[in-house]
Amino acid sequence: MTRKILVTSALPYANGSIHLGHLVEYIQTDIWVRFQKMQGNTVHYVCADDTHGTPIMLRAEKEGITPEQLIDKVHKEHYADFSEFLVEFDNYYSTNSEENRVLSSNIYRALKANDKIATRTIEQYYDPVKNMFLPDRFIKGECPKCHAKDQYGDSCEVCGTTYSPTELINPYSAVSGAAPIRKETEHYFFKLSECEDFLKDWTRSGTLQAEAANKMGEWFESGLSDWDISRDAPYFGFEIPDAPGKYFYVWLDAPIGYMASFESLCSKIGLDFDEYWKKDSTTELYHFIGKDILYFHALFWPATLEYSGHRKPTQVFAHGFLTVNGEKMSKSRGTFITARSYLDHIKNPEYLRYYYAAKLNGSMEDIDLNLDDFVARVNSDLVGKYINIASRTAGFISKRFDGKLALLKANPVIDDLRNAADSIADSYVSRDYGRALREIMALADKANGYVAENAPWDMSKQESQSEALHQVCTAALEMFRLLTIYLKPVLPKLAEAIETFLNVKPLTWIDVKTSLPAGHSIQLYQHLITRIDPKHIEAMTEANKENLQSTNTAPAVEVVEETNYISIDDFAKVDLRIAKIVNAEHVEGAEKLLKLTLDIGEEKPRQVFAGIKSAYDPETLKGRLTVMVANLAPRKMKFGLSEGMVLAASDETGGPFILTPDAGAQPGMRVK
Ligand code: 2FM
Ligand code: ZN
Repeated sequence: MTRKILVTSALPYANGSIHLGHLVEYIQTDIWVRFQKMQGNTVHYVCADDTHGTPIMLRAEKEGITPEQLIDKVHKEHYADFSEFLVEFDNYYSTNSEENRVLSSNIYRALKANDKIATRTIEQYYDPVKNMFLPDRFIKGECPKCHAKDQYGDSCEVCGTTYSPTELINPYSAVSGAAPIRKETEHYFFKLSECEDFLKDWTRSGTLQAEAANKMGEWFESGLSDWDISRDAPYFGFEIPDAPGKYFYVWLDAPIGYMASFESLCSKIGLDFDEYWKKDSTTELYHFIGKDILYFHALFWPATLEYSGHRKPTQVFAHGFLTVNGEKMSKSRGTFITARSYLDHIKNPEYLRYYYAAKLNGSMEDIDLNLDDFVARVNSDLVGKYINIASRTAGFISKRFDGKLALLKANPVIDDLRNAADSIADSYVSRDYGRALREIMALADKANGYVAENAPWDMSKQESQSEALHQVCTAALEMFRLLTIYLKPVLPKLAEAIETFLNVKPLTWIDVKTSLPAGHSIQLYQHLITRIDPKHIEAMTEANKENLQSTNTAPAVEVVEETNYISIDDFAKVDLRIAKIVNAEHVEGAEKLLKLTLDIGEEKPRQVFAGIKSAYDPETLKGRLTVMVANLAPRKMKFGLSEGMVLAASDETGGPFILTPDAGAQPGMRVK
């Protein structure tokens, strides 16, 4: 029986461009969907733009257009970007749709009927100039803990404290600059606190990766709070039924947008919506998301579905973030690369699809796009290994055998390739595309070994070897066909070109079991892929650096630009303190470390492992003052927890030399 599978990727916000970070998820999902379709399953892959909320409303206002005009424009851009990256949605919709309005209202009504909605009066900041309540991100002020200026209303970027905006000192509105006033307002809450037992059961039912289930454990431990699902006018979104002036918070209707997009697909191609969403549905539902939105998909969303009488997700697949060259994408380094910019410079989307696939392993770990490695990997695997098999053998079939294949004889290399089908399929199923590609490339190595060993270019020189030449080239092309099946979920366009070249119908997984018959005609081999030129990468990063200087369309949400300098605020983030070394000792088994106990005027002294053993006898350190970074995230080391860092100078000529303050400095003093 074919499985019926509904798959989603997270809905991108309609207020920004798709960039390489987004693409990790869409490419990951698309590969999975294409693989499942090749297996013969019925799969529907839906997505949409996430269109509601204050940032979109304010950005439209800034651009002098309506929110509807803004989201239309962005929808077109997003759709074009995805299509060109070969991300093939069965439906790409919008959360600002009639289907979504109706579904959101009905779900809300069902939650209310189930006594899962409460109203409560809360006090919120209000911008008296703009006449609107301010979301936390639109209020700034001084951190109540470390007193850093210009911090957002939800958390301090300097000391990491989270707080409520009403705790900020000297708050101001990021929209108008006015001092906000506190005003009471009635809000609607989803009583998540009552859903704990259900959610605990659901978590245990194998719906989450182990890392995600652990995270859930932490959330359960700290207790679930009710979820504020309303926002006051003015707000771009759906008005709550029977609550004039109150709107659904964007995160209420966003995941319902998955359903709405599917409903729109149902009416386009005649599917039964309820079959997929009813409580006891036997179809499967998978959500691909980034780890940052796990809370919404693993708590709010299943609870919303459960208490509104719907089915729950079969599984939620969370992935990590993208770094470029080992660091966060950065505008100053030119590594904040939009999908469009990649297409303009590198052109071929399949290089990136291949590279991401090679890096993805189904876990929540971050993945790194190292641009040098990207060029090397793609050129070596795709051009040097895979395509090479056809480019070295196809010509002989055309020139010497009228484009026709021989009757394939038993061949152990081909057997190896065929026998790998299940194992490669398992890797795709578990989203361990890295493992799939390693196995496929190992098979490509074998195929190349076969070609090299038989050296068809030598055979072609002797008429007596003609039959052998025919056999070797036929076998090599069969290997190439099998590898193409395996790579097709990742490289669909290349596979299509190869299907034309091999003169075969669209390949599916079952085609592994058969081979091309004797006498089958192939087309003339034409160049299938070119190497990436590193110059294009350079041009791309350069162009993205330039963009920063030439475009000055500040989005409504402020983007803090990076430069090679750090700002005074960055520096202020480092909490440097005078520390007294109250104890120093050797650490058993550690070659370079000493264990220091440091007094920085706090109740409990800090334990720090410092790599200074080569230069200091622990006894001579006791009682000395030095300087430490006190707000470095604690690191779990083999020998214990290290709660900070001691500063020391060194270079190739010597060191480490730990720093000592002038006389008079006291433990705990700030170093600024
Ligand atoms: O985090 C985001 O980018 C959201 N726009 C994702 C929404 S996913 C879903 F639930 F709609
Ligand atoms: Zn702070």
